[in-house]
Amino acid sequence: MNGTESRIGTHVRGLDERIGGGIPAGFTVLICGPSGSLKSSLAFNILYHSTKDQGLRSLYLSVEQSKESLLGQASSLGLSVEDTDTLNVVDLAKLRRETEKPEEVNWIATLQDLLVKYNEEFDPQLLAIDSLDALYALSSLKNPRNEIFTFFESLRDLNLTAFLVSEMPREGGFFGKHGVEEFLSDGIIHLRLKEVEVGRTTSVRRFIGIAKMRGTKHELDYYPLLVDKSGFEVLVE
Ligand SMILES: Nc1ncnc2c1ncn2[C@@H]1O[C@H](COP(=O)(O)OP(=O)(O)O)[C@@H](O)[C@H]1O
Ligand SMILES: [Mg+2]
Repeated sequence: MNGTESRIGTHVRGLDERIGGGIPAGFTVLICGPSGSLKSSLAFNILYHSTKDQGLRSLYLSVEQSKESLLGQASSLGLSVEDTDTLNVVDLAKLRRETEKPEEVNWIATLQDLLVKYNEEFDPQLLAIDSLDALYALSSLKNPRNEIFTFFESLRDLNLTAFLVSEMPREGGFFGKHGVEEFLSDGIIHLRLKEVEVGRTTSVRRFIGIAKMRGTKHELDYYPLLVDKSGFEVLVE
């Protein structure tokens, strides 16, 4: 995993070959999109397969969704964690519930300390934080741009590939809440929902596009994204 060539697969059929085999190891990547666009599922899919198929160590930090709910959703997509022993899921929401006076805790700083601890104990090669917005909601940021900059720097110091889930409105807007996340990150995977008319029914379809990937030649197309028990797939003409 140390060579400059090594890449982390998204394990979305049809996508990895369009981005030079995957995401360069060591990158910080945003996974952005509106609610229900499969952000959490995609982040989990990447960590799951990197762990199961390639033997990498992964840490999934859930800030908004309970561990049970996340694992239930993953298992409905055929990703069962019983199959892996190096994918750790940490429920920060639960930790918050168990903390006295949680409103007095600076959760971004707490998370940074926790990550240093996990790095020493377990040395994860992949990390997902789900979501940045939930983390922001817990933290009262006095100078958000500065604090987010420092947070991204602290992620780089951990020497791992990080996936940061970021909530976006359906109709576009910034890739991150404070507008700085998109240039602090090395890559952006954008998930979109689009309404289409099918006869008299309005249906919502999912699309995936690579909005940014440093050091990687990629198209700027958005591909239809399908998911079922057999995994994630893009439809490419
Ligand atoms: N077994 C399944 N197969 C396909 N899609 C599913 C399945 N289970 C849930 N979903 C879809 O996944 C969506 C939730 O995905 P999630 O990754 O939590 O989205 P986000 O994190 O972007 O809000 C649900 O709205 C549902 O449409
Ligand atoms: Mg989610």
